[in-house]
Amino acid sequence: MAPDAPRPKPCPTLSVVVPTYRESANVAVLFGRVEAALEGVPWEMIVVDDDSPDGTSEIAFALASSDPRMRCLRRVNRSGLAGAVVEGWMSSSAEFVAVIDGDLQHDETILPKMYRALAAGEGNLAIGTRVADERAGGLSPARQMLSDLGAWFFRRVAGAAVTDPMSGYFMIRREIVSRLAPRLSADGFKILVDVILSAGGELKIIEIPYLFRKRIAGESKLTPLVGLDFLGLVTHHASGGLLPIRFVLFALVGAVGLVVHVIALSAFRHWAGPADFGSAQLVATLVAMASNFILNNEITYRTYRYQGLSMLAGFAGFALGCSVGALANIDVASWLYQWNRTWWVAGMAGAILSVVWNYAVSTNLIWRPRLRR
Ligand code: GDD
Ligand code: MN
Repeated sequence: MAPDAPRPKPCPTLSVVVPTYRESANVAVLFGRVEAALEGVPWEMIVVDDDSPDGTSEIAFALASSDPRMRCLRRVNRSGLAGAVVEGWMSSSAEFVAVIDGDLQHDETILPKMYRALAAGEGNLAIGTRVADERAGGLSPARQMLSDLGAWFFRRVAGAAVTDPMSGYFMIRREIVSRLAPRLSADGFKILVDVILSAGGELKIIEIPYLFRKRIAGESKLTPLVGLDFLGLVTHHASGGLLPIRFVLFALVGAVGLVVHVIALSAFRHWAGPADFGSAQLVATLVAMASNFILNNEITYRTYRYQGLSMLAGFAGFALGCSVGALANIDVASWLYQWNRTWWVAGMAGAILSVVWNYAVSTNLIWRPRLRR
């Protein structure tokens, strides 16, 4: 290097990853606030945008062209919060990585506290723990309840006392996530839960409380139903990684469908009289299929969900696929029953077969990765 060449800026020791989908009104504000908060720390921001139609990535790229502390990854034909975060982390060479929402709900002023604690070796994972502000009402009562319930479940399974495992705001030594990355789920929303359960006992966790803010611009992409995602994750880990998270959710929805079926059946019989059992069963089957389709569309395959009129086509495919599954179920169960006269063994085997079949059809044909419109 020539002696009078400008010295390169210090390399970042902290990468702050910001997953975004339609956050054009927030990205630049967040960058300014993080810049003010991290004064004195060599940091960079990595915006991972899933090709938002509102031009979020254009804004991030414009910032990046004038400030090397900003980087942006525009993912095309893909979506999903957890996967976006992991990909952002995988592009970092810093000692520490963080994740913060792009909508200004997380308080960026605790970033230096998290950083100092990790750099001093007080822990290797620092979680921003949400404390609801009663006056501002950052979390609605329903979300607060869901969050409390989740925290309780989590303590039981993980054996770690974490106040806010659903938090989407934390900082961790990059070396840890780098090792765990191949095992992390790209589909879910609860990346912290996944990280903690995948890491096993090696984490030394510190929690830093902050006031969760209300969202001002843009809208939330997560509904409270997403809480079920968490259940899938925990069961996935409890099975030693054997059951895919999606399958757990799919089976859960199927169990709900069974209840819906029985209720619809009894309602129809009540209304039309017990004589015509065949029609009653047909109607109940359709009702249960519709309920399963809607729940799977909202929860299990949310990333690829059908919206508007395309739901009709999706439902038609789903109903067709499930009918084939039901026929196969009856076939296999009857065949098994010839060999083994225990009715419930044959019945269960048939039912398991159709769940697996329906799952395969749903995952590969009905909600196969499609562009989100
Ligand atoms: N790249 C990408 N892809 N980003 C996404 C996607 C996606 O598919 N979906 C959402 N995001 C971004 C949003 O733009 C935002 O920056 C951040 O992820 C969080 O999304 P919100 O839609 O604001 O979520 P929330 O505020 O309802 O949920 C918060 O609380 C949850 C716990 O209840 C978040 O902090 C979650 O991370 C947290 O799990
Ligand atoms: Mn938010």
